[in-house]
Amino acid sequence: MTAPTPNSKDPDDLTPMEATAELARLAEEIARHDALYHQQAAPEISDAAYDALVRRNAAIEARFPDLVRDDSPSRRVGAAPAPGFGKVAHRVPMLSLGNVFERAEVAEFAAGIRRFLKLADDEPLALVAEPKIDGLSVSLRYEDGRLVQAATRGDGTEGEDITANIRTLDDVPDRLATDEPPPVVEIRGEVYMTRDDFLAFRERQVEAGEKKPPANPRNAAAGSLRQKNPEVTATRPLRLFAYSWGEVRGLEVASHHDFLDRLRAWGLPVNPETRLCEDVEAALAAYDDLAARRADLPYDIDGVVYKVDRVDWQKRLGFVSRAPRWATAHKFPAEQARTVLRSIEVQVGRTGALTPVARLDPVTVGGVVVARATLHNEDEIRRKDIRAGDTVIIQRAGDVIPQVVSVVLEARPDDAAPFAFPDHCPVCGSEAPRPEGEAVRRCSGGLICPAQAVERLKHFVSRNAFDIEGLGSKAVEAFFQDGLIQGPGDIFRLEETAADRIKAREGWGETSARNLFRSINDRRVISLDRFIYALGIRQVGQATARLLAGHYGSLEALRAAMAEAQDPDSDAYKALVNINDVGTSVARDILAFFHEDHNQTVLDDLAAQLDVRPFERAETAGDSPLAGKTVVFTGTLETLSRAEAKARAQTLGAKVTGSVSAKTDYVVVGADAGGKAAKARDLGVTTLSEAEFLEMSGGA
Ligand code: IVH
Repeated sequence: MTAPTPNSKDPDDLTPMEATAELARLAEEIARHDALYHQQAAPEISDAAYDALVRRNAAIEARFPDLVRDDSPSRRVGAAPAPGFGKVAHRVPMLSLGNVFERAEVAEFAAGIRRFLKLADDEPLALVAEPKIDGLSVSLRYEDGRLVQAATRGDGTEGEDITANIRTLDDVPDRLATDEPPPVVEIRGEVYMTRDDFLAFRERQVEAGEKKPPANPRNAAAGSLRQKNPEVTATRPLRLFAYSWGEVRGLEVASHHDFLDRLRAWGLPVNPETRLCEDVEAALAAYDDLAARRADLPYDIDGVVYKVDRVDWQKRLGFVSRAPRWATAHKFPAEQARTVLRSIEVQVGRTGALTPVARLDPVTVGGVVVARATLHNEDEIRRKDIRAGDTVIIQRAGDVIPQVVSVVLEARPDDAAPFAFPDHCPVCGSEAPRPEGEAVRRCSGGLICPAQAVERLKHFVSRNAFDIEGLGSKAVEAFFQDGLIQGPGDIFRLEETAADRIKAREGWGETSARNLFRSINDRRVISLDRFIYALGIRQVGQATARLLAGHYGSLEALRAAMAEAQDPDSDAYKALVNINDVGTSVARDILAFFHEDHNQTVLDDLAAQLDVRPFERAETAGDSPLAGKTVVFTGTLETLSRAEAKARAQTLGAKVTGSVSAKTDYVVVGADAGGKAAKARDLGVTTLSEAEFLEMSGGA
């Protein structure tokens, strides 16, 4: 690749189009120099020339904050992941945790568990409170007591193989200290760096001439763990706290605290601040204690995790989407700072939503430099009366995007005018109306709005969607601007339609073009859940995409059902709304997507070019008599709450719907059942008692 011709235009004189193109070039160029410097130790340009590129990038971003790229050099933290890590499929997914901030929400967390389990009022609900370590989660697989594999969390389903690097940690034993290890145990925990170790490490990096030393212990740990050479990792002061498990065979523990004891006995570090609490009040006291001592702990924590102690209850509680029902994180309050808001920019997202963003004088909050903050929407700006020129209080909590909390009115300049929210799209100029009852204005330009089209394409190729190597955000933008791709289907025609033009592009050539076509072709076979997620339907994230894929099984079945479900009186509509988590609002967005003629054309186009693989249900589901069955619950169940009954059926691969039809396989009838039980009998649908259902679903 040739270096970009230095653009001497003042950033103020650039058009947005020029700025977009130059930021794209800079991101690519700087990334290339980073790789040359860090991974190949073969820099091509002087430090001064490198710094000039970084400064130019920052200057353009300062002028066009809404053009800051996801992969911007200014956003990149820590060391870039070195290529060449193998992938590891997690046999048991690595989940995330729900969050709460208020004490009342903690009480509600416990009350929800009590309801789900139908616990009697006097039944104690013991919780374990553990510090939430601000590091990186890893999974360590031991077979017959020997460490055989270590992986990062990745997207929760698939991580990176970091076995060689993990072996360099003193905290991670190669063998479990026991004569009777379980045949398989995956131990999960957090890799972190203490604050003192981080400061010393950072100083060494700066002395060694590192231009971008890590900003905080978490980034330092991340960069260290993803070194290509384990000998480098070995020099980094990494540590581990173990706190949970993935796949296990031949290990029975009754409680979480028993498991932690077992970990200690095996020689794994367990956080010494962990407390077994007899009830919510005790758990909150543990939180207060940790919050008070937070700054004195040798490592960063960002909250406290509460976990139901009894393992049989954990199993019954199971998961919602990607988080367990039996655990939650109680986060510490966000850190705040004061700065000046220079301007308010309006960005246009993938679904046309106009999102206001504050451009700030850079300020450090909780160890991170913040120059932009979200303003959510029009009403929020009005409610808080936020104006350009105001001094504002901003806050940042964990990984959450920084927010503007309030305005310091005493410091308002005399000429600060109220912000006039645009009623037209700032990118394509189409009207941007605000539908009744909604908080957000949306560009009505649809396909003619380049901002939306590009954002959709970027989403389509993104990591959790089609994940096409070599076709990142910047390439999508450039190809879109040059008319090589307009919609997702065009991607799969590129080799046919634009091979020569791509080869001739600056920075491309024969080899990269060939690699790109290879990775595009590799993605002609794709799983249904990824495919659905890639469509970028409003409110349909990965979890909902998996639910839809699991429910409908194939693209054809999904499309047929969505055609039927356009009628709100249809069974198909009821079935859709009843899928776990979906509900009417999400259903409305899904149906709107499938209603659109243009989207149908895109689907036809993609279906003709791709092999969308039916969704594979979880292994455990296959052999259950409930797998693939449609189940309706009616009446009051005695031992199970409705939520638990539904969750149990779904875990075993059943679809749970709300109404009985000829397609229903089983109706589980509790006490005081009404019309549904009668309808089942009329239609000849098998009815089950609660006891029979329990039996079929693996016992009480
Ligand atoms: S338990 C199903 N315990 O927080 C169990 N996670 O927000 C899920 N984390 O990905 C994890 N300290 O990286 C658990 N004591 C702790 C933790 C902890 C930090 C991290 C972990 C997880 C994230 C979820």
